[in-house]
Order: sequence, then structure tokens, then C-alpha cells
Amino acid sequence: MKTIGLVGKGGSGKTTTSINLACALGLMNKKVTLVDLHMTTSHLAVEFGVIPQTTINDHVVSGERLEDALHPQFNMFVIPSSLNMFGHEHVDLSKIKGNVKSAFGDFDFAVLDAAPGLGKEALGALGASDEVIIVTNPTMASVADAIKLKHAAEKAGSNPIGLVVNRHVNKWFEISPDQISSLVELPVLATIRNDEDFLKSQAARTPMVFYNRHKSEEFFKLAAAVIGTDYRKGLFQSLLPHHDH
Ligand SMILES: Nc1ncnc2c1ncn2[C@@H]1O[C@H](COP(=O)(O)OP(=O)(O)OP(=O)(O)O)[C@@H](O)[C@H]1O
Ligand SMILES: [Mg+2]
Repeated sequence: MKTIGLVGKGGSGKTTTSINLACALGLMNKKVTLVDLHMTTSHLAVEFGVIPQTTINDHVVSGERLEDALHPQFNMFVIPSSLNMFGHEHVDLSKIKGNVKSAFGDFDFAVLDAAPGLGKEALGALGASDEVIIVTNPTMASVADAIKLKHAAEKAGSNPIGLVVNRHVNKWFEISPDQISSLVELPVLATIRNDEDFLKSQAARTPMVFYNRHKSEEFFKLAAAVIGTDYRKGLFQSLLPHHDH
């Protein structure tokens, strides 16, 4: 069992990437849980349209079993955060890594959707991660945060394995993935286009890998990097038998 944290600037695409990475790993026959560690303004429950009965809050705040908060979604298991306004003021994530590993020893991966930026909540997710993926947009502000997050990950004892460049438009005015890679000094594991289909898939409560496989290859590349296997071009087509929109 390995924990993989997705961190980055607010709104950079951590939740979108976490969801699609978890689904791609599931399609590659891995047993995966997707954990909402963005507890102050959590989004996983709303992305899947579930009203969770048991959440990560029940574990962190009240010591309930983590296993009881598993919600099967697509081909993996989501652990949402509570949608309540209160109840996360004194959250302490320092034990969450050990607890996830002992509760889900038979899982291959726990994908952790972190809070934005470098505040206490985001640092808690870094501390819970064996490996960290930094999600950035091709803007200076986002890349500046990515540089800080790489150093924060190392300080927290986790391994920053690479970047996801999200909302790529491939125009002259944006910072290119190669430039971002040299600035942050990490490899780019996936480059995701800016595409309104993400909003459509969100409205359909269907992750992009199930919504439009032709726009999902980068998530399978990312999943292969996480697993540590070479990505075979076109692999995603054989894994996704469903219809497209
Ligand atoms: N590549 C993309 N193209 C178009 N829209 C996108 C793309 N990636 C994400 N979005 C949209 O941008 C919004 C923010 O994305 P998301 O929630 O994944 O970011 P986040 O980093 O998790 O945000 P937060 O910091 O609030 O947790 C969502 O509405 C999402 O659908
Ligand atoms: Mg988010």
C-alpha cells in the first residue's frame, strides 16, 4: 500500500486529477481508495453526488473505523469528508498515514486529495503521503506554489515524484510544460488540456476517464508512472469499453 498525495495551488485541478488518477489505477486492476483530505471545503462527495453517512471526519475527530467510510464509486472506493459546516476545526492529520496503511493493507494505493496551498491542512496531507504529485496550471503563480510545495514535500519526508500540468492551452503566452519542469526541477508526468468537457463530466458526475476516453490518455500515463510501469500508447482504449459523449 502506497499513499499518493495530490497537492497544488487552489483551483489548479487537484480534485479532478485525483479522481481520474484513482479511476485509471482501478482500470489498471489496482485496488484504490480515494481519500478527501481537503476537509475544510471538501469536494469529493459533491463531485460524486453522494450524501455521505460516514466520513473521514468520523475517523479523525471521533475515532470511528476508516473502513466504515468507504463509498464504492466506479471502480474504486471513495472516503469523503463531511459536508457539514463545522467539525473540522481541530483536525489533526498526523496519524492519518499510519491509520490508512493499517486499515487498507490489502489495497495497492490510497490517492489523497489535499487542501490547496501550503497551510496546515495541506501540510498534513504532505506528511501523509509516501509520494507527492504537484498539480500546476501553466501560470507563474501556480508554478511559484509548485516550487514551494516541492520543498515542503521533501521537508515533510515525502517523495515528490513529478508534476501534472493542468489546463494546458498550447499557446505562445503560456509557460510550456518543459519550462515548468525546469523551474520546479521535477518531471512532467501528464499534461491535461483545458477543456470544457471537464465541466460536462462534472455535471454528469462521471469522471473524465469514463466520460470521454479520448481525452483521458494522460491520466493513464500518470497512473502508469505511479505504478512504475512503462505506458504503452493506446493502452487506455483497451481498458475502456464504454460509449463516449
Ligand atoms: N483541464 C481542465 N479544463 C477545464 N476545466 C477544468 C480542468 N481541470 C479542472 N477544471 C475545472 O476547474 C475547477 C477546479 O478544479 P478542481 O476542483 O479539480 O481544482 P482543485 O485544485 O481541487 O481546487 P481546490 O483548491 O478548491 O480544492 C472545477 O470546476 C473543474 O471541473
Ligand atoms: Mg480540490
